[in-house]
Amino acid sequence: MTENIQIGTTDVYSTPLGLGTNAVGGHNLFPNLNDDTGKAIIRVALTNGITLLDTAFAYGMGRSEELIGEVLKEFDRSKVAIATKAAHDPASGGAFNNTPEFLTRSVEEALKRLQTDYIDIFYIHFPDETTPKNEAIAALQKLKEAGKIKAIGVSNFSLAQIKEANQDGFVDIVEDEYSLIHRDAETELFPYLRDNKISFVPYFPLASGLLTGKYESDVTFPPEDIRSKKADFQGERFKSIIEKVNQIKLIAADYNASVAEIVLAWYIKNPFVAVVIPGAKKPEQVINNAKALNVHLTEEDYQRIDVLFR
Ligand SMILES: NC(=O)c1ccc[n+]([C@@H]2O[C@H](COP(=O)([O-])OP(=O)(O)OC[C@H]3O[C@@H](n4cnc5c(N)ncnc54)[C@H](OP(=O)(O)O)[C@@H]3O)[C@@H](O)[C@H]2O)c1
Repeated sequence: MTENIQIGTTDVYSTPLGLGTNAVGGHNLFPNLNDDTGKAIIRVALTNGITLLDTAFAYGMGRSEELIGEVLKEFDRSKVAIATKAAHDPASGGAFNNTPEFLTRSVEEALKRLQTDYIDIFYIHFPDETTPKNEAIAALQKLKEAGKIKAIGVSNFSLAQIKEANQDGFVDIVEDEYSLIHRDAETELFPYLRDNKISFVPYFPLASGLLTGKYESDVTFPPEDIRSKKADFQGERFKSIIEKVNQIKLIAADYNASVAEIVLAWYIKNPFVAVVIPGAKKPEQVINNAKALNVHLTEEDYQRIDVLFR
């Protein structure tokens, strides 16, 4: 039986494995996405032990939320935790907006697209430059008291901005980049979050597929693929990551599991990670990733992987 993880001190719970949905309806982010495949990805997730869906207005400018809303009608809403985000303001060309008015309107509009009457986790997707952070959070606290959202999150905030946002203790969860190959959060962010009972969700946990073991160092990406520009996929850094991932292949063989399963199992065992939310372009990837819920790394293997990527 998979343990249920509490988000902050709220009454939102999830299994430790969620689904990232930037490739579900995220036509502005990835080429050649298909909405039916996106819906199939959600269905497969929700029937394979995944209970948290991570979306955002910015994924297809509402399209990802709409697709989730359509599929959600086939499932028991109370068993699914929906996390969404807003900050990109269409009225100003997508500039970040954290004003109380904008956030309140964003929640109302997301509720309609998701065809639901509450959002489990609502994140400010990116900080804007002008709104005092505690004022933005106070607007979300009002929405929480009104039952429209159940947990308050921030994403892409610096630690100083998180502290400012959390002045009144209202922040429940933080989402930021963290993976075996991007571990800055461990130094200062994780201790602060632990001391303040704030949950953490890492994004890019598979480093956009690099940590699944499917690449060799001679791979090249077409210019329209964002990986062609990402530093992790270039030159010596790329080669050194692939060498480390190849070491995980040996551990994976012992568990009769894929590299993706082992890497996801490492986050599941990591005490600072609440829910890990790998994205997917195909239902088969979700089926594979969901198997990580049944991989229980020994402490020794957890430490071996930890040290390998230090
Ligand atoms: N808060 C934020 O600002 C922010 C920013 C970025 C992401 N996010 C969230 O975090 C989630 C995760 O990030 P991400 O999806 O960009 O990156 P990711 O989880 O690191 O990588 C996902 C990609 O890896 C590949 N993949 C997944 N499972 C696989 C498997 N079992 N075998 C082989 N390949 C597999 C797929 O791409 P290919 O098939 O193309 O290889 C998939 O799209 C997003 O979906 C989104 O919800 C949030």
